[in-house]
Amino acid sequence: MTTHTTRIAVFCSGSGSNFKALFQAIENKQLPAEIVLCLSNRARCGAMEFAEQNGIATVHITEQQFGFFDEFAEAMVERLKKHHIDIILLAGYMRKVPDAVVAAFPERMLNIHPALLPKFGGEGMYGIHVHTAVLGAGETETGATVHFVNEEYDKGEILLQRTVPVLPDDTPETLAARVLECEHRLYPDALEKLLTLPGS
Ligand code: GAR
Repeated sequence: MTTHTTRIAVFCSGSGSNFKALFQAIENKQLPAEIVLCLSNRARCGAMEFAEQNGIATVHITEQQFGFFDEFAEAMVERLKKHHIDIILLAGYMRKVPDAVVAAFPERMLNIHPALLPKFGGEGMYGIHVHTAVLGAGETETGATVHFVNEEYDKGEILLQRTVPVLPDDTPETLAARVLECEHRLYPDALEKLLTLPGS
C-alpha cells in the first residue's frame, strides 16, 4: 500500500463542476490524493474562483503570453514540476494540451469527455456541440468517458465509461445536464481506479 499522497493538477476552462465533484469525492472517499493546483487558460472562471476559495494554487497560462508555442509548453511543464504534480485531470479544459506536456506525464493524464468515445469525439467536439451532434444522429443512448490523454484529440485508451439514456424530448441542454450528473460520479470513480493501478 502506498503512503504517498498523489498530487493532482486539474485543468479547467469553465464552471469547474467536475473539479468541484472531484474535490468533494477525494474527501468523501478518503482517496490518497490531493488537488494542489488549478491550471486554466482563463484568469477568471468558476473553477479558478473555487480553487481560490479553497486554498488551491492557481496558474493562468495561455499561448498568447508567449512568443513561441514551445515556450508556452515549456512554461506549462515548468509550472507543473514546481508544484510536484503527479497526475493531471482535464476537467472541461477547452484547449489541446501541448505534446511536450503530454510527453512529460505518460499515462498520468486523464480527460473526461461528455459522450461514449470513440463516437462524438475529436476536434470541435466539446461541450454543447457534442450533445447537439448526439441528438442530430438520433442516438437513443449517450454517456461519458474518462480516457488517458495522448497526442491525438480524444483518442487515448479508455479507463472508464458509463451510459446515459437520451429521452425523446431532450434538447442539447437537458441532455448536457443529465450527462454532467453522470460525469460527477464517473470522474471520481475513474480517479480511484487510476490510483489503484500498478505503479500508482
Ligand atoms: C463537461 O461536460 C466536460 O465533459 C466537457 O465540458 C464540460 C465541463 O463542465 N468537456 C469537453 O467537452 C472536452 N472535450 P465543467 O466545467 O462544469 O466541469
